[in-house]
Amino acid sequence: PRIVVLISGNGSNLQTMLDQGDANLLGGKIVAVISNKAEAYGLERARAAGIATAVVSNQDHASREHFDGALSEVIDGYQPNLVVLAGFMRILTPSFVHHYQGRLLNIHPSLLPRYQGLNTHQKAIDAGDQEHGCSVHFVTEELDGGPVILQARVPIFADDDACVVAERVQVQEHAIYPLTIRWFCEGRVVMQQGKAYLDGAL
Ligand code: GRF
Repeated sequence: PRIVVLISGNGSNLQTMLDQGDANLLGGKIVAVISNKAEAYGLERARAAGIATAVVSNQDHASREHFDGALSEVIDGYQPNLVVLAGFMRILTPSFVHHYQGRLLNIHPSLLPRYQGLNTHQKAIDAGDQEHGCSVHFVTEELDGGPVILQARVPIFADDDACVVAERVQVQEHAIYPLTIRWFCEGRVVMQQGKAYLDGAL
């Protein structure tokens, strides 16, 4: 299977995918990395790995619809079976999401459905939660609302700040995202009627 990864920044999740790909553990091939930010460090990671890169800047497009149209044209040029959002910090239009329905994954740094949106680590601390985590899910039109495939939990200890918690969560992101991608590439994860299934159940 052919995989396109969308990023906006550091790309530490992308890096784990590249590493797993090198070790033949990803189940598919990353054929391109696309960023909406030219300065995203993840683009350098991709180049270092010899993967094609592209930048589609939202600033070059008058509306969200135009940007999403340009983005999907570039993505579709690579004929992906799977599109992976890895720290891609743009809200996508319903028509974009619909176009990639069932083959568009995201990772969100919370135990969804808790804490959709930004600043999830601080929200969990402020709520006095003793556990937190991350979720890999199919993307649907509902922001951070698509069906969850896999989650990992981490503890929150007294006196933890958001930075410490974020680091703890990222270790888990790096474990569960490539694993979910592998399952998808093996045909073990599907979305049907808005629900996620692993091996026919979940
Ligand atoms: C991750 O924390 C992810 O959960 C969120 O964006 C961040 C991306 O980090 N969606 P990186 O660019 O992969 O290092």
